[in-house]
Amino acid sequence: MQTSILAEDFAVKIDGVDLSGLLDDATFDALRGLWMQYKVAVIPGQTLDDDALLAFAGRLGPIFTHVQSTLHTGERKDVMYMSNRQQEALVQGELGWHTDQSYTAKPVFGTILYGIEIPADGGETCFADLSATYDTLPDGLRDRVEGETAVYSAERPGHKRRVALTEEERKRIPDVVHPLVRTHPYLGRKALYLSPMHIKAIGALPLAESEALLADLTAHATAPERVYVHRWTPGDVIMWDNTSVMHRRNHFPPEQRRFHKRTGFYLPDELATPF
Ligand SMILES: [Fe+2]
Repeated sequence: MQTSILAEDFAVKIDGVDLSGLLDDATFDALRGLWMQYKVAVIPGQTLDDDALLAFAGRLGPIFTHVQSTLHTGERKDVMYMSNRQQEALVQGELGWHTDQSYTAKPVFGTILYGIEIPADGGETCFADLSATYDTLPDGLRDRVEGETAVYSAERPGHKRRVALTEEERKRIPDVVHPLVRTHPYLGRKALYLSPMHIKAIGALPLAESEALLADLTAHATAPERVYVHRWTPGDVIMWDNTSVMHRRNHFPPEQRRFHKRTGFYLPDELATPF
Protein backbone atom coordinates (compact mmCIF):
# COMPACT_ATOMS: atom_id res chain seq x y z
CA MET A 1 0.00 0.00 0.00
CA GLN A 2 1.41 3.40 -1.00
CA THR A 3 -0.13 6.67 0.05
CA SER A 4 0.13 10.14 -1.36
CA ILE A 5 -1.47 13.23 0.10
CA LEU A 6 -3.82 15.00 -2.29
CA ALA A 7 -4.69 17.84 0.07
CA GLU A 8 -3.09 18.61 3.41
CA ASP A 9 -4.89 16.86 6.30
CA PHE A 10 -7.75 16.19 3.96
CA ALA A 11 -7.59 13.87 0.97
CA VAL A 12 -5.32 10.87 0.51
CA LYS A 13 -4.66 8.56 -2.44
CA ILE A 14 -4.06 4.93 -1.64
CA ASP A 15 -2.36 2.83 -4.33
CA GLY A 16 -1.51 -0.84 -4.36
CA VAL A 17 -4.77 -2.08 -2.88
CA ASP A 18 -7.16 -4.44 -4.68
CA LEU A 19 -10.65 -4.12 -3.23
CA SER A 20 -12.03 -7.03 -5.28
CA GLY A 21 -10.65 -9.60 -2.86
CA LEU A 22 -10.73 -9.89 0.88
CA LEU A 23 -8.16 -7.52 2.38
CA ASP A 24 -6.18 -8.92 5.28
CA ASP A 25 -7.01 -7.32 8.63
CA ALA A 26 -3.84 -5.23 8.81
CA THR A 27 -4.39 -3.73 5.33
CA PHE A 28 -8.07 -3.15 6.00
CA ASP A 29 -7.39 -1.44 9.34
CA ALA A 30 -4.69 0.74 7.78
CA LEU A 31 -7.01 1.77 4.97
CA ARG A 32 -9.89 2.55 7.33
CA GLY A 33 -7.54 4.55 9.56
CA LEU A 34 -6.25 6.61 6.62
CA TRP A 35 -9.78 7.25 5.45
CA MET A 36 -10.89 8.48 8.85
CA GLN A 37 -7.82 10.65 9.30
CA TYR A 38 -7.99 12.25 5.85
CA LYS A 39 -11.81 12.13 5.43
CA VAL A 40 -11.54 11.53 1.68
CA ALA A 41 -9.73 8.46 0.34
CA VAL A 42 -9.12 7.87 -3.37
CA ILE A 43 -8.37 4.26 -4.24
CA PRO A 44 -7.59 4.02 -7.97
CA GLY A 45 -7.41 1.14 -10.41
CA GLN A 46 -10.31 -0.99 -9.17
CA THR A 47 -12.40 -3.53 -11.07
CA LEU A 48 -15.35 -4.44 -8.88
CA ASP A 49 -18.60 -6.27 -9.29
CA ASP A 50 -21.51 -5.40 -7.02
CA ASP A 51 -20.78 -8.24 -4.62
CA ALA A 52 -17.20 -7.06 -4.13
CA LEU A 53 -18.30 -3.47 -3.65
CA LEU A 54 -20.81 -4.54 -1.01
CA ALA A 55 -18.42 -6.89 0.72
CA PHE A 56 -16.00 -3.98 1.18
CA ALA A 57 -18.72 -1.56 2.33
CA GLY A 58 -20.19 -4.12 4.71
CA ARG A 59 -16.88 -4.49 6.47
CA LEU A 60 -16.91 -0.77 7.25
CA GLY A 61 -20.39 -0.67 8.76
CA PRO A 62 -24.06 -1.57 8.25
CA ILE A 63 -24.75 -1.15 4.53
CA PHE A 64 -26.54 2.01 3.41
CA THR A 65 -29.73 2.02 1.39
CA HIS A 66 -31.00 5.30 -0.01
CA VAL A 67 -34.31 6.41 1.55
CA GLN A 68 -35.63 7.42 -1.85
CA SER A 69 -36.61 4.05 -3.24
CA THR A 70 -37.09 5.39 -6.78
CA LEU A 71 -33.29 5.69 -6.89
CA HIS A 72 -32.79 1.96 -6.38
CA THR A 73 -31.94 1.36 -10.00
CA GLY A 74 -29.21 -1.24 -9.70
CA GLU A 75 -29.62 -4.97 -9.59
CA ARG A 76 -29.84 -4.68 -5.81
CA LYS A 77 -31.12 -1.80 -3.73
CA ASP A 78 -27.88 -1.31 -1.84
CA VAL A 79 -25.82 -0.54 -4.95
CA MET A 80 -27.14 2.48 -6.81
CA TYR A 81 -26.37 2.81 -10.50
CA MET A 82 -26.06 6.50 -11.24
CA SER A 83 -25.66 7.88 -14.72
CA ASN A 84 -27.08 10.13 -17.39
CA ARG A 85 -28.44 7.11 -19.27
CA GLN A 86 -32.15 6.42 -19.23
CA GLN A 87 -32.23 3.27 -17.17
CA GLU A 88 -30.29 4.50 -14.15
CA ALA A 89 -30.71 7.05 -11.36
CA LEU A 90 -30.46 10.39 -13.06
CA VAL A 91 -27.19 12.25 -12.79
CA GLN A 92 -27.07 15.33 -14.93
CA GLY A 93 -25.04 18.49 -14.96
CA GLU A 94 -24.13 20.28 -11.80
CA LEU A 95 -25.08 19.31 -8.23
CA GLY A 96 -24.74 21.74 -5.33
CA TRP A 97 -22.86 21.37 -2.05
CA HIS A 98 -24.34 18.85 0.38
CA THR A 99 -23.62 16.03 2.79
CA ASP A 100 -25.33 12.77 1.93
CA GLN A 101 -28.68 12.06 3.54
CA SER A 102 -28.32 14.87 6.11
CA TYR A 103 -32.11 15.12 5.93
CA THR A 104 -32.52 11.74 7.61
CA ALA A 105 -32.40 10.93 11.31
CA LYS A 106 -29.42 8.60 10.97
CA PRO A 107 -27.40 9.82 8.01
CA VAL A 108 -25.03 7.61 6.08
CA PHE A 109 -21.51 7.70 7.58
CA GLY A 110 -19.34 6.83 4.60
CA THR A 111 -20.24 7.10 0.93
CA ILE A 112 -18.37 4.94 -1.58
CA LEU A 113 -18.48 6.05 -5.19
CA TYR A 114 -16.99 3.90 -7.95
CA GLY A 115 -16.31 5.57 -11.29
CA ILE A 116 -16.90 3.47 -14.40
CA GLU A 117 -17.58 5.85 -17.31
CA ILE A 118 -16.22 9.35 -17.01
CA PRO A 119 -17.03 12.33 -19.24
CA ALA A 120 -14.12 13.95 -21.01
CA ASP A 121 -15.17 17.40 -19.84
CA GLY A 122 -16.17 18.39 -16.32
CA GLY A 123 -18.08 16.19 -13.89
CA GLU A 124 -15.41 16.52 -11.20
CA THR A 125 -16.42 15.87 -7.60
CA CYS A 126 -15.37 18.63 -5.21
CA PHE A 127 -14.94 18.00 -1.48
CA ALA A 128 -14.88 20.61 1.28
CA ASP A 129 -13.29 19.87 4.65
CA LEU A 130 -15.86 20.66 7.34
CA SER A 131 -13.62 19.94 10.30
CA ALA A 132 -11.05 22.44 8.99
CA THR A 133 -14.00 24.75 8.38
CA TYR A 134 -15.01 24.49 12.01
CA ASP A 135 -11.43 24.90 13.26
CA THR A 136 -10.92 28.09 11.27
CA LEU A 137 -14.29 29.78 11.81
CA PRO A 138 -13.87 33.42 12.71
CA ASP A 139 -15.12 34.10 16.26
CA GLY A 140 -18.20 35.94 15.03
CA LEU A 141 -19.34 32.90 13.08
CA ARG A 142 -18.25 30.36 15.68
CA ASP A 143 -20.44 32.02 18.32
CA ARG A 144 -23.39 31.74 16.02
CA VAL A 145 -23.07 27.99 15.35
CA GLU A 146 -21.87 26.63 18.70
CA GLY A 147 -24.73 24.78 20.39
CA GLU A 148 -27.05 25.64 17.49
CA THR A 149 -29.28 23.28 15.54
CA ALA A 150 -30.58 23.34 11.98
CA VAL A 151 -33.50 21.86 10.07
CA TYR A 152 -32.43 19.55 7.23
CA SER A 153 -34.93 18.86 4.50
CA ALA A 154 -34.98 16.61 1.44
CA GLU A 155 -36.91 19.33 -0.33
CA ARG A 156 -35.48 22.61 0.79
CA PRO A 157 -37.40 25.44 -0.90
CA GLY A 158 -35.50 26.47 -4.02
CA HIS A 159 -33.75 23.11 -4.37
CA LYS A 160 -35.27 20.89 -6.99
CA ARG A 161 -34.35 17.23 -6.52
CA ARG A 162 -33.06 15.38 -9.57
CA VAL A 163 -35.84 12.87 -9.02
CA ALA A 164 -38.80 14.35 -7.14
CA LEU A 165 -40.07 12.58 -4.03
CA THR A 166 -43.23 10.56 -4.39
CA GLU A 167 -46.09 11.34 -1.98
CA GLU A 168 -45.25 8.21 -0.03
CA GLU A 169 -41.59 9.26 0.25
CA ARG A 170 -42.62 12.76 1.30
CA LYS A 171 -44.49 11.28 4.27
CA ARG A 172 -41.70 8.87 5.09
CA ILE A 173 -38.89 11.45 4.96
CA PRO A 174 -39.93 14.37 7.16
CA ASP A 175 -37.57 17.24 7.95
CA VAL A 176 -35.12 16.51 10.78
CA VAL A 177 -33.19 18.61 13.26
CA HIS A 178 -29.48 17.99 13.83
CA PRO A 179 -26.83 19.90 15.75
CA LEU A 180 -25.03 22.29 13.41
CA VAL A 181 -21.71 21.28 14.97
CA ARG A 182 -21.10 17.59 15.39
CA THR A 183 -18.34 15.57 16.96
CA HIS A 184 -16.69 12.73 15.09
CA PRO A 185 -17.77 9.50 16.76
CA TYR A 186 -14.31 7.93 16.67
CA LEU A 187 -11.92 10.86 16.56
CA GLY A 188 -13.66 13.32 18.88
CA ARG A 189 -13.00 16.06 16.35
CA LYS A 190 -15.66 18.71 15.76
CA ALA A 191 -17.00 19.60 12.33
CA LEU A 192 -19.59 21.96 10.98
CA TYR A 193 -22.53 19.86 9.81
CA LEU A 194 -23.15 21.85 6.70
CA SER A 195 -25.40 20.84 3.81
CA PRO A 196 -26.48 23.95 1.93
CA MET A 197 -28.72 21.96 -0.42
CA HIS A 198 -30.70 20.64 2.56
CA ILE A 199 -30.55 23.16 5.41
CA LYS A 200 -33.88 24.91 5.53
CA ALA A 201 -33.49 26.91 8.75
CA ILE A 202 -30.81 27.58 11.35
CA GLY A 203 -32.07 27.75 14.93
CA ALA A 204 -34.94 30.15 15.38
CA LEU A 205 -33.52 32.75 12.99
CA PRO A 206 -35.87 34.58 10.63
CA LEU A 207 -35.53 33.17 7.12
CA ALA A 208 -33.44 36.01 5.69
CA GLU A 209 -30.95 35.84 8.58
CA SER A 210 -30.77 32.08 8.40
CA GLU A 211 -30.07 32.25 4.66
CA ALA A 212 -27.42 34.91 5.17
CA LEU A 213 -25.68 32.84 7.86
CA LEU A 214 -25.85 29.74 5.66
CA ALA A 215 -24.26 31.70 2.82
CA ASP A 216 -21.47 32.98 5.11
CA LEU A 217 -20.75 29.47 6.43
CA THR A 218 -20.77 28.03 2.93
CA ALA A 219 -18.39 30.71 1.67
CA HIS A 220 -15.99 29.92 4.50
CA ALA A 221 -16.22 26.15 3.98
CA THR A 222 -15.63 26.38 0.24
CA ALA A 223 -12.60 28.66 0.29
CA PRO A 224 -10.07 27.04 -2.09
CA GLU A 225 -7.71 26.03 0.73
CA ARG A 226 -10.41 23.76 2.18
CA VAL A 227 -11.51 22.18 -1.09
CA TYR A 228 -10.14 19.19 -2.99
CA VAL A 229 -11.34 18.78 -6.58
CA HIS A 230 -11.23 15.24 -7.95
CA ARG A 231 -10.90 14.66 -11.66
CA TRP A 232 -12.14 11.09 -12.16
CA THR A 233 -10.33 8.26 -13.93
CA PRO A 234 -12.30 5.06 -14.65
CA GLY A 235 -11.64 2.55 -11.87
CA ASP A 236 -11.38 5.17 -9.12
CA VAL A 237 -13.12 4.36 -5.86
CA ILE A 238 -13.61 7.33 -3.57
CA MET A 239 -14.90 7.08 -0.06
CA TRP A 240 -15.70 10.07 2.08
CA ASP A 241 -16.87 10.74 5.59
CA ASN A 242 -20.20 12.55 5.67
CA THR A 243 -19.65 13.66 9.26
CA SER A 244 -16.79 15.93 8.19
CA VAL A 245 -16.99 16.45 4.42
CA MET A 246 -19.45 18.01 2.03
CA HIS A 247 -19.29 17.59 -1.71
CA ARG A 248 -20.62 18.83 -5.00
CA ARG A 249 -20.41 17.88 -8.68
CA ASN A 250 -19.25 20.15 -11.44
CA HIS A 251 -21.24 20.45 -14.61
CA PHE A 252 -20.57 18.08 -17.50
CA PRO A 253 -22.02 17.98 -21.03
CA PRO A 254 -25.25 15.92 -21.27
CA GLU A 255 -24.11 14.08 -24.39
CA GLN A 256 -21.09 12.63 -22.60
CA ARG A 257 -21.65 9.48 -20.60
CA ARG A 258 -21.07 9.38 -16.89
CA PHE A 259 -21.66 6.18 -14.94
CA HIS A 260 -20.89 5.53 -11.29
CA LYS A 261 -21.95 2.95 -8.77
CA ARG A 262 -22.61 4.08 -5.25
CA THR A 263 -22.92 2.38 -1.93
CA GLY A 264 -22.12 3.34 1.63
CA PHE A 265 -22.30 2.39 5.25
CA TYR A 266 -23.90 3.66 8.44
CA LEU A 267 -22.47 4.15 11.86
CA PRO A 268 -23.35 1.44 14.33
CA ASP A 269 -26.68 2.34 15.95
CA GLU A 270 -25.19 3.31 19.31
CA LEU A 271 -23.03 5.99 17.64
CA ALA A 272 -25.47 7.18 15.01
CA THR A 273 -27.07 10.09 16.88
CA PRO A 274 -25.89 12.49 17.83
CA PHE A 275 -22.46 12.37 16.28
FE1 LIG B 1 -23.94 13.24 -2.63
